[in-house]
Amino acid sequence: MLNFGVIGYGYWGPNIVRNLRNQEGCRVLAVCDQSAAARRRVEHAHPGMKVVANPAELLSAPYIDVVAVITPVWTHYELAKAALQNGKHVFVEKPFTADSTQAEELIDLASRKNLKIMVDHTFLFTGAVRKIKQLVDEGSLGKLYYYDSTRVNLGLFQHDVNVIWDLAPHDLSIMDYLLQEEPEAVVATGQSHLNGHEDIAFITLYFPDNIIAHINVNWLSPVKVRTTLIGGEKKMLVWNDLEADEKLKIYDKGVKVTSQQGVYNLLVSYRSGDMWSPQIEQCEALQLELSYFAECIRKDETPFNDGIAGLRVVKMLEAASNSLTKRGAMVYL
Ligand SMILES: NC(=O)c1ccc[n+]([C@@H]2O[C@H](COP(=O)([O-])OP(=O)(O)OC[C@H]3O[C@@H](n4cnc5c(N)ncnc54)[C@H](O)[C@@H]3O)[C@@H](O)[C@H]2O)c1
Repeated sequence: MLNFGVIGYGYWGPNIVRNLRNQEGCRVLAVCDQSAAARRRVEHAHPGMKVVANPAELLSAPYIDVVAVITPVWTHYELAKAALQNGKHVFVEKPFTADSTQAEELIDLASRKNLKIMVDHTFLFTGAVRKIKQLVDEGSLGKLYYYDSTRVNLGLFQHDVNVIWDLAPHDLSIMDYLLQEEPEAVVATGQSHLNGHEDIAFITLYFPDNIIAHINVNWLSPVKVRTTLIGGEKKMLVWNDLEADEKLKIYDKGVKVTSQQGVYNLLVSYRSGDMWSPQIEQCEALQLELSYFAECIRKDETPFNDGIAGLRVVKMLEAASNSLTKRGAMVYL
């Protein structure tokens, strides 16, 4: 039996507690939140649960094996570090840390103590992303050309980070997983209008082999959009995450350019075949992710969304922030 302690019961924490409690072989023995209102919500939702205000109580408790850190990003490093120092495995929310130095230190600490870190890149466990990964890996899309994502809605404004650090980790972790490549360069532009943090941003990432990615993140959109286009040489897909059914549509469309008599005689032909929508597994992503984490701990295996994967995403976020402050200067990684 793996005994979990969860720190942070705001917006996302309740999902972690609920999914852990539904997990065979896992128990939540304590929840911590510094806010009295949040603690009352835990008591109401989970009568009898041990609820504490001070993370130290939970971090040093001998009965806890794993600590889940579901608090704002600027607190992740201190809490995760204390958990690792106390011999606990850690499940940390995205983005892993506020900078790459912190991430490197946590990775090193976990490795020295033979403890696991999992970073909650939830989307990697959704049916849609798992299907896209399968299509990419089996070569159905052919050589990839681009990843183009729109992730916009009204709010939720965060007080500690800008829209890039809030929403872009999803796309950056998905690209990291799908491409298995790190970007060579990043360009980002954005603007803040209300609370001093950028509320709209456009990020371009240049990956090896001419793969380009664009991410549009925005807290000031009147409508919620979660649409990603992935273009490949053989097929192209549209992933609309707001669709209840048919989230993924694969188009047998493409363009072929042939040159018969030198570059001045290009022949462009367009292929427009069938569209199909593959079946997608309906299991809740967090349920799958937490089950995988428990299995990694039991089998002493490294999760693919470990601290190192978290660090790669933090490095992309840092590069984007760096470019943004220079109004779109190219930042090489
Ligand atoms: N994986 C996802 O899809 C997803 C979705 C939403 C949020 N998140 C991540 O989850 C984390 C939390 O986000 P949220 O929206 O739930 O934030 P939130 O502000 O709603 O909740 C954070 C909670 O942590 C508590 N807290 C903060 N510091 C604490 C400390 N030192 N000790 C004890 N309690 C403390 C606060 O009182 C609050 O109740 C962030 O890193 C965010 O990026 C991930």
